[in-house]
Amino acid sequence: MIELQHTTKTHDESRQGEALDMLPTGKSTGRKLYIESYGCQMNFSDSEIVASILLDNGFETTRDYRDADVVFINTCSIRENAEQRVRNRLKEFESAKAKNPGMIVGVLGCMAERLKSKFLEEEKLVDVVVGPDAYRDLPNLIDKVDDGTKAVNVLLSREETYADISPVRLNSNGITAFISIMRGCDNMCSFCVVPFTRGRERSRDYQSIVQEAQDLFNAGYREVTLLGQNVDSYKYTKPVAEGEEPAPAVNFAQLLAMVAEVSPELRVRFSTSHPKDITDEVLYTMGRYENICKYIHLPVQSGNSRVLDLMNRTYDREWYMGRVDAIRRIIPECAISTDVITGFCTETEEEHEETLSMMDYVKYDFAYMFAYSERPGTLAAKRYADDVPEEVKKRRLTEIVNKQQEHSLYRAQNFIGKVQKVLIEGFSKRSDEDYCGRNDQNTMVVFPVDTRFKPGQYVNVLAERCTSATLIGKIVD
Ligand code: SAH
Ligand code: SF4
Ligand code: F3S
Repeated sequence: MIELQHTTKTHDESRQGEALDMLPTGKSTGRKLYIESYGCQMNFSDSEIVASILLDNGFETTRDYRDADVVFINTCSIRENAEQRVRNRLKEFESAKAKNPGMIVGVLGCMAERLKSKFLEEEKLVDVVVGPDAYRDLPNLIDKVDDGTKAVNVLLSREETYADISPVRLNSNGITAFISIMRGCDNMCSFCVVPFTRGRERSRDYQSIVQEAQDLFNAGYREVTLLGQNVDSYKYTKPVAEGEEPAPAVNFAQLLAMVAEVSPELRVRFSTSHPKDITDEVLYTMGRYENICKYIHLPVQSGNSRVLDLMNRTYDREWYMGRVDAIRRIIPECAISTDVITGFCTETEEEHEETLSMMDYVKYDFAYMFAYSERPGTLAAKRYADDVPEEVKKRRLTEIVNKQQEHSLYRAQNFIGKVQKVLIEGFSKRSDEDYCGRNDQNTMVVFPVDTRFKPGQYVNVLAERCTSATLIGKIVD
């Protein structure tokens, strides 16, 4: 998963007021929901499940929180500044609530799970606190608040995957969509709060995943991204009915193939791959299907084996390089991106240099880079001192960001003079005279509008120029 910061790619989704005014699916209560999301794509995807549940309960959605009866903020705990951003935003809701005392303010997601009922004490305007596995309970919790009590449900589940809930697509371009294939995480990376906020790993029934992809395709979508904290450990075994033979488990490579089979016109992406788990079977499956995009997000975190061990990543430098070599061998045109943390506990200057040399080895297409932020309750917070001074973390981060800038540019330049197959996603952010879309490798491509082609269609674009994040070209069909 990618929580967005210090990226050399352009992303603008670290916060989003959910757009499109939508009507309830059943009988209307006339009440309005406003929901905004922070953090990783999983949270954005969860907000679509939340909206679906409330629409089913007679709510409509609004784009303006001042106009809403229920204001939800779906939160992230991954770094301290992610939590700070949410607290600042809650302050902004205060005046709206003062004007409209009946307005219900709810905190959902990872911060809700981490802080539980403490949230109600810390932030007085909050009425409801709901963890990521308790969204089915939302209508009931809202009823409680209507009756005058504050409400909390932060129970984690071993089974909940919301498989039967069909998400409403919020803020959608109608062409690309996310599909959650699993929830939670069983890896205990020592820096990471996710296992505490999202609970145990569980995989969703593959039939409901394939059906969701098929429904999206029928509705005109042309790209799906399969989401999980560690997609390579996807594994689903059908429950056995009485008198039936048990069906064999389905793994991630098999799931990828099933989704790719929906249509050759449907692009399939996925995130995140864990270096310890990504298999050659997945790589060969990617190679076999033209419509599985040649792009892997493979977070390295550090290039040094001692630091990786302290991080409890369960691979070392050599193993990671071996996986990169396998990708290059099996899918030579594959783009690779990464996440890096600088200044993890006890990281020395030499160890930081090894992260830089790892970057030189891989020459990542993109990277998401962060200074280490200690999270309460994690293994690292309990075991190790957060002893790299803030200015050293920041300086190392700058070195890493600068290096990535060079590599992103190098990778983008490699596309120049070559024809890219691009799925048109819409107009470019800068101008209505340009379309934008991504190539197979996930690099953004911008090119003049040609009225013969519409968003949702594939076009061949000759890349003529680039920045480190974007290719600029023209349609050559
Ligand atoms: N499941 C994904 C990670 C999700 S969190 C994976 O294993 O790659 C996204 C990224 O946030 C992580 O890859 C890591 O680089 C960063 N991150 C997580 N915890 C952090 C912390 N405490 N401080 C700084 N960055 C952190
Ligand atoms: Fe966090 Fe590690 Fe799980 Fe990713 S794999 S969510 S970094 S514990
Ligand atoms: Fe995602 Fe942030 Fe939670 S990255 S899983 S929303 S802590």
